[in-house]
Amino acid sequence: TYIVTDNCIKCKYMDCVEVCPVDCFYEGENMLVIHPDECIDCGVCEPECPAEAIKPDTESGLDKWLEINQKYSAVWPNITEKRDAPDDAKAFDGEAGKFEKYFS
Ligand code: SF4
Ligand code: F3S
Repeated sequence: TYIVTDNCIKCKYMDCVEVCPVDCFYEGENMLVIHPDECIDCGVCEPECPAEAIKPDTESGLDKWLEINQKYSAVWPNITEKRDAPDDAKAFDGEAGKFEKYFS
């Protein structure tokens, strides 16, 4: 499966939503997550994310993010249509430690 990681927080560009063939993105206030059981591993969303926040869960060190995607895709609403990114998205792109600072 693919998962959404730290740099999506407060960037939320949503280009990923447009390309997913199975609509498996779920929306929180500051970021999106992927439902790991619904993702068919097609990989098309990974290069579409301007924040490079989408990664295959086979990459090392992503256990925490797999858990977060699992947990929140079960409670956040499904998102199937891209909207505009936040006006200040670029200001947060690449900032370190976004999970600790902004995830609630
Ligand atoms: Fe959707 Fe494919 Fe990305 Fe999985 S890898 S979230 S199925 S676009
Ligand atoms: Fe987030 Fe990238 Fe999608 S910033 S909303 S994972 S395009």
